[in-house]
Amino acid sequence: MSITPRVFSGMQPTGALHLGNYLGAMLQWIAMQKTHECIYCVVDMHAITVWQDPKELVDATRRVTAAYIACGLDPKRSILFNQSQVAEHAELAWVFNCVARLGWLDRMTQFKEKAGKDKERASVGLYAYPSLMAADILVYRATHVPVGEDQKQHLELARDIAQKFNNDFKENIVAAGFADGIFFPQPEPVITGPATRVMSLRDGTKKMSKSDPSDLSRINLTDDAETIARKIQKAKTDTEPLPSEEAGLKGRPEAENLVGIYAALTGESPGAVLRQYGGGQFSGFKKALAEVAVTKVGPIGAEMRRLSSDPVEIDRILADGSARARAIAAPVMHKVKDIVGFIRS
Ligand code: TYM
Repeated sequence: MSITPRVFSGMQPTGALHLGNYLGAMLQWIAMQKTHECIYCVVDMHAITVWQDPKELVDATRRVTAAYIACGLDPKRSILFNQSQVAEHAELAWVFNCVARLGWLDRMTQFKEKAGKDKERASVGLYAYPSLMAADILVYRATHVPVGEDQKQHLELARDIAQKFNNDFKENIVAAGFADGIFFPQPEPVITGPATRVMSLRDGTKKMSKSDPSDLSRINLTDDAETIARKIQKAKTDTEPLPSEEAGLKGRPEAENLVGIYAALTGESPGAVLRQYGGGQFSGFKKALAEVAVTKVGPIGAEMRRLSSDPVEIDRILADGSARARAIAAPVMHKVKDIVGFIRS
């Protein structure tokens, strides 16, 4: 059971996927399909760490699966599935709950943001969220995890859990046939590109997010051409013309965000974008940006709608992906049980 390069990542089926998900993570997911064995999950168990209407959760899980495929993930080449169909995630998460320390979880900024002031009323699941996330990755002994910047702290925790597990159980790991004492790899975060943190279109200091009450703050992958163009046209900017060099974006979060989005959509560098549009007014740049965004995002929404009209086919894809995921996760979990000292038959 040697460690082979393998990619794992996931998105929550809560609300609509947006341009931040697409540019921050999905573009990388698509690219890595060509070079790696990839496992992409719809993390429905993470979703219920805050209340979800059960019927809406079913729809959202199918919608995110349709978005994965519409964006360009190939369910034959990669494994696409929903987390709750592979019970090994929850099993390993429990072991990790007993490896991770309270002090580690106390430092997680996402819990603090999501729980808000009334921490007493947050679910235990929301607190233990990062330990399930570590299990998602490590139950496949995945080595690379493409995500946006906001997941960096969770990935550092996953690395700490992997290392502590290897240390705590070193003797048994060696006895189980891993001569170097390493059972779990240290998963590498893959956080690359000009848009690892896409900001709100209404406030360049806030992350673009599904939970922002203003729909104008984000471009949803399901938005039609007219909506995309209107949102970009209404995007907040400052009064200066665009700078000619990247250094000139400093202290101008809205300009930096729009240039980053343009660069990520076209595959250019922010410097190259500014060489073309620097010195000009925002109105002209916004027009060009809207055109690029409509060309890239428009077809995704159309394809999502087409795929969503056949939920039976989506469920079939998820069942197939789950069986393939389980085939990798089950033997890893068997070894974990041997290492930890659980009797199994
Ligand atoms: P989630 O569902 O919040 O987001 C999915 C992916 O989109 C990225 N992202 C962004 N990137 C750039 N700019 C933004 N404004 C933006 N908003 C979201 C996220 O960084 C993420 O990569 N905890 C994870 C899901 C998860 C997971 C995992 C990820 C569960 N288990 C294991 C990797 C590995 C989450 O809530 O992502």
